Amino acid sequence: MSANRREVILGVGAGIAAYKSADLLRRLHDRGYYVTVVPTPSSLNFVGAATWEALSGRPALTQVWESVHQVAHISLAKNAGFFIIAPATADLIARIAVGRADDLLTNLVLSSDVAKMIVPAMHPNMWNNAATKANVETLRARGFIIMEPDTGRLTGSDSGQGRFPEVSRIVEEFDSMTGNTQDFTGRKILIAAGGTREAIDPVRFIGNRSSGKQGISLARAAQLRGADVYLVAANMDTSTLDGISITHVESAREMQQALQRDFPSSDVLIMCAAVADARPVQTLADKIKKALFTSIELEPNPDLLAELASTKVQQVLIGFAAETKDHLESARAKLKAKALDIIYVNDVSNGAIFGKDVTHGTILLRNGEEIALKEVSKDALADLLLDHAKRQLG
Ligand code: CTP
Repeated sequence: MSANRREVILGVGAGIAAYKSADLLRRLHDRGYYVTVVPTPSSLNFVGAATWEALSGRPALTQVWESVHQVAHISLAKNAGFFIIAPATADLIARIAVGRADDLLTNLVLSSDVAKMIVPAMHPNMWNNAATKANVETLRARGFIIMEPDTGRLTGSDSGQGRFPEVSRIVEEFDSMTGNTQDFTGRKILIAAGGTREAIDPVRFIGNRSSGKQGISLARAAQLRGADVYLVAANMDTSTLDGISITHVESAREMQQALQRDFPSSDVLIMCAAVADARPVQTLADKIKKALFTSIELEPNPDLLAELASTKVQQVLIGFAAETKDHLESARAKLKAKALDIIYVNDVSNGAIFGKDVTHGTILLRNGEEIALKEVSKDALADLLLDHAKRQLG
């Protein structure tokens, strides 16, 4: 497992501002990050694990003694692309500065060498104390990004520097640490994903093995890069997506309608859905009895991508192909026939890639360039395709 630039550990220290990190978590989700919350044990006095688990959709562990068989302090650290510790108390900053590892969060900080940001919040006397100042200096010298707390009124009647900064300022600072340039800001990206189902009767359908995982990766990547993302989701789980406009569809014709609605105002269309090429001529209202279920008469579905391509104005079109043989030849033909800018061809011999997090195949561009990819994650492929789309958008 290697670090994933979209995976973030949100460490939460025992400050009253812990509740504000619930909003921070949402904002990071909205930007397309996956967030695992690791609260310190004493921070649970302010915000309980149940809140973090509900908001992040993931377990919120505090101690290395939980889920020992998964060796969480190593696996979480290996997977994380970035850390953000908010709020950080004087005590937490001190523990990190001296290299303590007495809870899960400090273990993770020690065992990961990715970029880390600390958002302090404490009483001004503690922030201005020479010990805290020295610890902050030490951590900055080691490469930690440490925000300056805001100045103003604190929880009691005191005021001074020590307040938790505005969440928007934290997110801005975090983006600059992660190098997130938001290069799709103001762009609308339409993604069709999942696999369509064509009803035979109320219980049976013609379907396929697409899981929609590539579509999730694309939606997240586009969102993280600042795009307005519209996802047309065919029979897939979208529960991990926040801040994306999702239209759920079942069949190819429903997908066609949704795409026709959103395509004209889009800048990029990414068609990674597995669209059923044919549908039953008739969908029966009653379940077909076994004795009569011997054949199904089919008629072709429209080719959604080719149809949209014929109405294109300035949109960049990205198609996907899944092939079991003659991958490149078929992909070149599809790129041309469907008037695409980019196509990615997957090798699906033996059912490879379905439901998996990695893929291997080739990106083909309209100018004839072909980029072969060996075992890349679907997240990495999503970013590569967006890089090419960006170039074509100019
Ligand atoms: N596609 C589409 N509408 C269809 C079939 C496919 O929009 N009815 C899109 C897919 O989403 C994909 C691209 O066209 O982006 C290529 O899909 P693929 O199934 O590989 O190609 P087909 O045109 O169906 O050709 P064949 O099944 O003969 O290989």
